[in-house]
Amino acid sequence: MLSQAELKANVARAAVDYILPLVQSDDIIGVGTGSTVDLFIDALAEHRGRFRAAVSSSERSTARMTALGIPVVDLNQVESVPVYVDGADEIDHGLNMIKGGGGALTREKIVASVARQFVCIVDESKVVETLGTFPLPVEVLPMARQAVARALSELGGTPALRDGFITDNGGQILDISGLSIREPAILEARINNIPGVVTCGLFALSGASVALVSTQNGVKIMQAATDAARS
Ligand code: A5P
Repeated sequence: MLSQAELKANVARAAVDYILPLVQSDDIIGVGTGSTVDLFIDALAEHRGRFRAAVSSSERSTARMTALGIPVVDLNQVESVPVYVDGADEIDHGLNMIKGGGGALTREKIVASVARQFVCIVDESKVVETLGTFPLPVEVLPMARQAVARALSELGGTPALRDGFITDNGGQILDISGLSIREPAILEARINNIPGVVTCGLFALSGASVALVSTQNGVKIMQAATDAARS
């Protein structure tokens, strides 16, 4: 029986194998944040010569890549990237995700937005039928924290401030529990439209292009299922 750490290491290595054929030597790779991505960065560093640099979604990933000799460039110097690799806290069969357990959701969404492909890397415990068991992170401007919390309560969730946590952007995080998210794209747009919200951790308006899912029987590729295909 593989542990969760072993499952993460397997999908991290599989992600490197998956993306290397997609990149040219002068390409920039988009890199996410989290414990699975940490292992991806470690595996990617062995192939430094195969791409030019990375654009990072957090100070944490920047520090790890820099320490391993992967050049990190500012997003403002980059027009688009062929591929963005990141983990998720939950992913459904439509490849909609909840992200932001590590608090890097805003930069993750920004970097993902310039990528031609979003490759999500998860172990099988992250695959769910319906998003929302994992509390949905929402980054807010500190002055708007209470107003946003009231608006989120009206949507049916229970917001809790992530105590003592400040994002790389100087924001705070409200974690929303008690949501059963049946229409993730609609909810994402509604939350993002609340004044004071920087962004929410739903990635549904633009989800993953593909997910690599680490299981006890190897790493499987998950494509978005259509309703017709699933019934
Ligand atoms: C970081 O803010 C998150 O979006 C992570 O991508 C997500 O929480 C997955 O992290 P792990 O790989 O540590 O589970």
